[in-house]
Amino acid sequence: MDFKLRKAEPKDVSDILRLVKELAKYEEMEHQVTLTEKELLEDGFGDTPFYHCFIAEIQGENSSEDPKVVGFVMYYFTYDPWVGKQLYLEEFYVMDQYRGLGIGSELLRHLSDLAMKTRCTGMMFVVAETNEPSVQYYKRRGAEDLSQEEGWRLFRFDKSSLVKMGTPAEE
Ligand code: COA
Repeated sequence: MDFKLRKAEPKDVSDILRLVKELAKYEEMEHQVTLTEKELLEDGFGDTPFYHCFIAEIQGENSSEDPKVVGFVMYYFTYDPWVGKQLYLEEFYVMDQYRGLGIGSELLRHLSDLAMKTRCTGMMFVVAETNEPSVQYYKRRGAEDLSQEEGWRLFRFDKSSLVKMGTPAEE
């Protein structure tokens, strides 16, 4: 089956949201997805993109049909004050029926080339502890498990904590 990779465009936001939801469902956290297409459009395709996506698509048997978006990576650039520029892999997903065709490997190849081109020193990402197939997938490609090897823990301030820490709203 032939697939093509390309940079995501504004018209792709509904497919991006569909795949985000599928991945969240796979991780049994679908109820946490509150993002809308409108936000994805504003946040990824405005003057300051907060994320970038590369998508994989497959042309259906009928060439008059639009190609089907079957997988994607969502990423952005971050900065590590010890070693400099880093890529952050936020989402990586290929639809179940299109797995094992090399689409995931090609998406990672694209990110690796981009990291080299932009002189990033690494690519960070988080994997659910229960997602053992992906833990192994990344390890086979050389990823280090920093929680295990260096003891880092992942934290978040949610919005209510930020509001508490922030400047009180004027009455
Ligand atoms: N079908 C086919 N291959 C599978 C598979 C399945 N159901 N489950 C695991 N594999 C393995 C193959 O053995 C192969 O491993 P190897 O290349 O190290 O030998 C690999 O997955 C397939 O490689 P490839 O075809 O390049 O990747 P892909 O297109 O199948 O995509 C993922 C890989 C991880 C994106 C895809 O499996 C996926 O979307 N998984 C569910 C979502 C997820 O866990 N994402 C990562 C979140 S951190």
